[in-house]
Amino acid sequence: MRLSVLGAGYLGAVHATCLAHLGHEVKVFDVDPSKIAMLAAGKPPFYEPGFETFLAETLASGRLHFTDSAQAAIEGARLHFICVGTPQQQDSDAADLRFVNSAFDTIMANINCASTIVGKSTVPVGTAQRLADILISNVPAVRVKIAWNPEFLREGTAIEDTLNPDRLVFGTDSESSEKDLMEVYGKLLSDGIPYVTTDLATAEMVKVAANSFLATKISFINAMAEICEVANADVVTLSRALGYDDRIGKRYLNAGLGFGGGCLPKDIRAFSARAGELGAADAVSFLREIDKINLRRRERVVSLAAAIFSGNFFGKNVAVLGAAFKPDSDDVRDSPALSVAAAMHVKGALVRVHDPQANENARQRFPTLTYCDSIETACADVDLVVLGTEWAEYKILDPLYIGQLVRDRVLIDARNALDWSFWSDSGWDVHALGRGNMHPRTREI
Ligand code: UGA
Repeated sequence: MRLSVLGAGYLGAVHATCLAHLGHEVKVFDVDPSKIAMLAAGKPPFYEPGFETFLAETLASGRLHFTDSAQAAIEGARLHFICVGTPQQQDSDAADLRFVNSAFDTIMANINCASTIVGKSTVPVGTAQRLADILISNVPAVRVKIAWNPEFLREGTAIEDTLNPDRLVFGTDSESSEKDLMEVYGKLLSDGIPYVTTDLATAEMVKVAANSFLATKISFINAMAEICEVANADVVTLSRALGYDDRIGKRYLNAGLGFGGGCLPKDIRAFSARAGELGAADAVSFLREIDKINLRRRERVVSLAAAIFSGNFFGKNVAVLGAAFKPDSDDVRDSPALSVAAAMHVKGALVRVHDPQANENARQRFPTLTYCDSIETACADVDLVVLGTEWAEYKILDPLYIGQLVRDRVLIDARNALDWSFWSDSGWDVHALGRGNMHPRTREI
């Protein structure tokens, strides 16, 4: 089927490539011509494991095209996927819908055949209906429908999540749009991927509810970590024991520095803001607490470091391993690791950051921190090592080798990713989050 994709960011580029891989003829438009040029040349403007090869293979099929002409992308397509960002507004918690509105306007200016506009972006409930209402008041020359088909892919596993999702959700207000969407994803449906057909508002809600639930699960275990710290209990063991209960499940129950990135933090805030607009703020007031618990974990790491340095960061060298908001990504939006690094820098420490992929993005966000290309340079002569993002290569670090590089063998494992007894046995003073039993509680300053 001939499809257009508006937005060639993380979501749009991966989604379009997967659609072409499934056999469709896909044309992608983005307002940023440099992004289009890179993708057309087979160079992803972001890091995603396996994506560069997948993109090259799919471009070679001749079914995937990146264009800086909105008209070329939109004309003749039966479905138009809106895959643009919905960041948090500068001065409020609400979602900024500027890019969704502009993609919609661009489609409407170029549409030339009966087709459906399909939203994939995460939006406040009611957005799709608002767009549908515009079509009622300004009837276009050709038949245009609105549908919402939320995306659940995670950075780091984006291709697998798109081609083998847990479920597909089709929010439509017409049989023809539903039929077209079923055809687009026909291969996945025939593979047995579960799907839910519903109305526009419910489809929008599925996405924000899913991200709110995941954020709640992470903050729940991090709240338990706070209690473990004062009760001399161990959150890692607690999480393992809870996870064996099928009703609870072990995923998204890793205690540590909490959630970051361009989705979970802003989505729970936007959801709260939208609930307020709808007069139902109380229903999700707990999300404010989820946000606070999450941000407190960052403060906890900084206060642990303060306690280690007897309250004085000046003259202290700190290595922060990890800048991305999670491993296998170069995304530093609302990164917990980077926010801890910046906070220690502000307090007077000399902070050296290492990340296998995210140094450049981090440098743009926090130019005053020092970025290192190797773990060795980051750790040389430091008084403290903080593990902020649990990249696989950090998990296999040799504590004896790193111990020879540093000035003081002091480690904060903020992701509970390392074997602390192994590090302790190698002469390290190990601190972690939620592990009250591993270390006499360090007095916070
Ligand atoms: C999240 C959702 O998982 C996707 O389903 C959704 O499509 C996406 O947002 C989106 O809205 O576009 P993503 O932001 O890529 O995906 O990252 P996750 O893998 O969900 O991790 C989010 C954060 O939670 C990371 O900072 C991670 O380190 C943290 N996390 C995750 C924990 O602290 N503990 C856990 O147990 C799991």
